Amino acid sequence: MYSRIIGTGAYLPEKVLTNFDLEKMVDTTDEWIRTRTGIERRHIVGDDETTSDLAYRAAVAALDSAGTRPADIDLVLVGTTTPDLIFPNVGCLLQERLGIRGGPAFSLEAACSGFLYALSVADQMIRGGQVVRALVVGAESMSRIIDWTDRETCVLFGDGAGAVVLEASDEPGVMYTSLGADGRYRDLLYASGGVSDRVRQAEAGTLKMKGNEVFKVAVKTLESMVDAVLESNRLDKGAIDWLIPHQANIRIIKATAKRLQVPMERVVLTVAEHGNTSAASVPLALDVAVRDGRIKRGDLLLLEAFGGGFTWGAALVRY
Ligand code: COA
Repeated sequence: MYSRIIGTGAYLPEKVLTNFDLEKMVDTTDEWIRTRTGIERRHIVGDDETTSDLAYRAAVAALDSAGTRPADIDLVLVGTTTPDLIFPNVGCLLQERLGIRGGPAFSLEAACSGFLYALSVADQMIRGGQVVRALVVGAESMSRIIDWTDRETCVLFGDGAGAVVLEASDEPGVMYTSLGADGRYRDLLYASGGVSDRVRQAEAGTLKMKGNEVFKVAVKTLESMVDAVLESNRLDKGAIDWLIPHQANIRIIKATAKRLQVPMERVVLTVAEHGNTSAASVPLALDVAVRDGRIKRGDLLLLEAFGGGFTWGAALVRY
């Protein structure tokens, strides 16, 4: 028994913030942002929108492309680090909006690796026979936890959502997933403003990052993760048809592609248009390349992400 992706969807909020807009807000330049990160613009959630609104739009598009009715979904799982409320979780909010009843609905927080974590959990639940059809979403309103006066972080992030419908199948499918974490790095990348930490609550919901140090650990960790994925699946370098990386920084993506010997024409890049949308970035990129016809049925995909925690994850998928 495998799980297979039978539909994809995505949603980006209307408002666009360009590097030139940011030049007017902090001491930065379009040139600095483009050369250091590859980012040119990002989408920003509307004042009256929430993460579950973004998730809902992406989910409707994924259900539509799968030809699946909400009533046929028996698991709703959302990777997010920017929920609407402390509870109910975004999975429940989304379940209610879609009119799905009764099956499990939850969200999990693994920062930028949230979608890979969610995909892996949903895949295991399908393989285990607990679930037949799952809606798996990555959705974020990162702009809500950004310090818009901090030039080192505010230029990097954007908002959006991506979703897939997974279905039990005899054919692969999600062939392999791998997840990891190392909490020793908690202070290199975090967002304060949680409810139980009285001291850090004073910092009120802002993202803090030591970018340079994150960069080095991200490159090293992703390289050893993709080596392990190839080895565990007895795949040669160059065997991957499409790399769908987390879109944090073009330089990190290039290092991973080089390690895999995947040419850059075979890497799905949305970082210029979307920035780092955290848990939404991988399903957003997947949807873009499915809809524009680059990814075809039967292609071998490698999805990967790295994020705060630190957390990381990969999935090998026969599309
Ligand atoms: N505009 C202009 N200058 C900026 C700037 C900005 N937006 N942000 C930082 N700088 C300055 C720094 O102050 C520093 O100045 P100094 O040399 O006078 O001290 C200089 O640029 C270089 O900073 P540094 O941090 O060494 O740059 P970098 O090459 O490491 O690039 C990042 C910075 C953040 C783009 C890069 O480290 C990165 O992408 N890290 C990983 C971030 C990430 O992916 N996080 C999410 C993980 S999921």
